Amino acid sequence: QRPPATIVFIFGGSGDLNLRKLTPALYNLFIDKYLPERFAVVGLGRSPYTDESFRERLLEGVQSFSRRKNGPEDAWKSFSPSVSYLQMDAGDAAAYTTLSDFVGTKKSEWGEEINVVFYLAVAPQLVPGIATNLGKLELCDDTSHVRIVVEKPFGHDLKTARELNALLGGLFAEEQIYRIDHYLGKETVQNILALRFANSLFEPIWNRRYVEYVQITASETVGLEGRGGYYEGSGALRDMIQNHLLQVLCMVATEAPISFEANEIRNKKVDVLNAIRRIKPEQVKDIAVRGQYGPGEKDGKTIPGYREEEGVKPDSKTETFAAVKLFVDNWRWEDVPFYLRTGKGLPEKATIITIQFKPAPFYAFPEEATNGWDANRLTIGIQPAMDIRLRFQAKRPGQTLAIDPVDMVFSYKDAYEGQEPEAYETLLLDVMTGDATLFMRADQVEAAWKVVTPILDAWESETPDFPNYPLGSWGPEAAMQLVEKDGFQWMTK
Ligand code: BG6
Repeated sequence: QRPPATIVFIFGGSGDLNLRKLTPALYNLFIDKYLPERFAVVGLGRSPYTDESFRERLLEGVQSFSRRKNGPEDAWKSFSPSVSYLQMDAGDAAAYTTLSDFVGTKKSEWGEEINVVFYLAVAPQLVPGIATNLGKLELCDDTSHVRIVVEKPFGHDLKTARELNALLGGLFAEEQIYRIDHYLGKETVQNILALRFANSLFEPIWNRRYVEYVQITASETVGLEGRGGYYEGSGALRDMIQNHLLQVLCMVATEAPISFEANEIRNKKVDVLNAIRRIKPEQVKDIAVRGQYGPGEKDGKTIPGYREEEGVKPDSKTETFAAVKLFVDNWRWEDVPFYLRTGKGLPEKATIITIQFKPAPFYAFPEEATNGWDANRLTIGIQPAMDIRLRFQAKRPGQTLAIDPVDMVFSYKDAYEGQEPEAYETLLLDVMTGDATLFMRADQVEAAWKVVTPILDAWESETPDFPNYPLGSWGPEAAMQLVEKDGFQWMTK
């Protein structure tokens, strides 16, 4: 669906997010003819750009980060005239009239029916001020056409998230507020609902009778890439688990929706978050592990650890690795462990979900035939491998009876090469068309904070033995024990 005429204002226009993600995504949407005929992208910031120099900077971003860097030759030429720059200090309330004036001018050219998106691609501490100033603009009273997009982190803990929700809720209607979690825009994450609810095969076994455990791993090889200032005040639990991984868990664990209405899906997901067993302070040490990477070695060279990264304190207590074991207390999932782990400085960049099924109840095969077999497992590759693998047993050809585990694989690359949009393309288009399904509602954010708060509190009260894993390893020993003491292992494929 193509949105009506739209203006996208980007606060933090010259920043990294716009350069790497937002403009490349808008550009791809333009090439694919998803943008409306009439659209304007306006970068806002304090740096002194002209329209021309701003476009040049964005072109560099498109050439480096767009999946269409070698896109049709004239595409940038046709796209870029719709991009402009307005120098403004976001802290100066008086400057916001320029935005209303811009919208007014466009309305006189394009007609009244215009969607206006304010995208806050700025540091979290600037969000309340900008939102307050925007809220004072008369144009923001138009709840069906004007939207505000807020990036994570959404609050630093439950208290600050509630405060931010209260502030935004006082200025905008909930349907105007789009809280982004970019994991929900990933094709492979959205496909979880298709896999589960567009097939009749999986759902009957998608429950505690058949599933032994669920694992969700999001590992990253990189360190901080210059984001020390932000990350040092955040850590892996806040940065990845509170949002991305809990959202993925919700997709795996949710009950079947009765429609694809935004609130229906979000209600079902909130039910999952509310069903996650509350962790008591004394249980934290048994179900949560944190780590911080120290120096490692690569190609015979020593690579510095987290504490030597820019913006990081030499005695930092910030975790770069977190693993947790959760339970979803309901009829479907009672007592099935959900293991979540994430970390930086690990051996691979990969996000995968493992649904491990229980072993067959009885094996009639002679014991020697079944040496090395594996119970059924469904592995959903979110990235970089985008695939779904079903592990089952097969008879090895030959005269001796031998059973081996084999995989049945669906690969996006083979089936749909080059067709998958990036997360930000999907999400930006959804904001423009007014579809909030993939965005976080206020209560979802708060419910997710409630899950992690006991862990944050317990960690806050104790000094960790950091660093406790070398760069390039799979995290601290205790993370292995978290699953091994239950008789399992972490799955990486
Ligand atoms: C961001 C985190 O939300 O997600 C980053 O702040 C992390 O620290 C990133 O690197 C991971 O996203 P992706 O899409 O590369 O898995």
